[in-house]
Amino acid sequence: MSSSVDPSAEDYRREMCTYNQFMEPIYRQALAHLPFQGSVGGLDAGCGPGGLLPSLCHLIGDEGEIMALDASLAHLEAAQQLCEHKELTSRVTLKQADLRTTLPFADDRFDWVWVADVLHPGYFPTPDDPVSEFVRVTRPGGHVVIFFEKMYESKLFPGQPHLDTLYRRYLDYHGRKLTFDNQPNNLHIWLKRSGCEAVQIHAFTMIHASPLTSEVRYYLQDIVVGWFAKTPMDKVTAAGISEDEWNALLQAVAPESPDCVFDHPDYYCMWIALMAIGRKPT
Ligand SMILES: C[S@@+](CC[C@H](N)C(=O)[O-])C[C@H]1O[C@@H](n2cnc3c(N)ncnc32)[C@H](O)[C@@H]1O
Repeated sequence: MSSSVDPSAEDYRREMCTYNQFMEPIYRQALAHLPFQGSVGGLDAGCGPGGLLPSLCHLIGDEGEIMALDASLAHLEAAQQLCEHKELTSRVTLKQADLRTTLPFADDRFDWVWVADVLHPGYFPTPDDPVSEFVRVTRPGGHVVIFFEKMYESKLFPGQPHLDTLYRRYLDYHGRKLTFDNQPNNLHIWLKRSGCEAVQIHAFTMIHASPLTSEVRYYLQDIVVGWFAKTPMDKVTAAGISEDEWNALLQAVAPESPDCVFDHPDYYCMWIALMAIGRKPT
């Protein structure tokens, strides 16, 4: 397994906490499908700053414990603070590990493995490798669950076809290097190829509508728009978008603009996530 990126060097805990708040309506739906209730021990692989640990602890019940792994020490530090704040330190063990290597656990150790928004193709060009490791450390009859937000299929400008088409073109260009094997829409296939049975795939949607809460507004404005607004013009034109079209798109989301879409009383965005659940054969 290899990647040019060293995830331990990255610290985006503030963005992750806002992202977790933004995604809350989808997490509620996703968690309701998890077969984790009453389990003794699970693994949160790529736990980040730990935003989902309180919900996972609540879901499994008072007896359950969670091992939470991440490569980033900064994220683990934030997760530690969160666990202290939520009085979960006796139930959660945090550990630094690289998911691109063999996991430091015996075969069949956990009842379940949960991995949310981690197996991005840029970090994991061959997701079958970590997924096989997740299956190895899960007990027979236990479950491996892969969750992915699908920003590329989500809608930032529903009802505004011109902006939506431009944004879609930008996202399509951005995702052009994905292959069948590492495309996150195929997360259920990763589980099947790694030997799981009874694989199910679920889709979840949510809408954030005007008036947006300050967290949602911050996520859309500073993180989503902040991400694409930084794109150099040569990459924008390579995506088939002219400079004028791009400026119109940026103007529509500029916070100081009187026409900023996020301030419109009828604005809404629609987000999508996918989740696949597989069972390790007994
Ligand atoms: C987008 S965050 C998701 C965090 C968390 N699962 C959540 O949903 O809130 C991705 C996390 O994966 C971690 N990560 C990325 N590559 C990794 C690797 N090779 N080994 C361990 N963790 C990794 C990052 O440090 C980051 O915390």
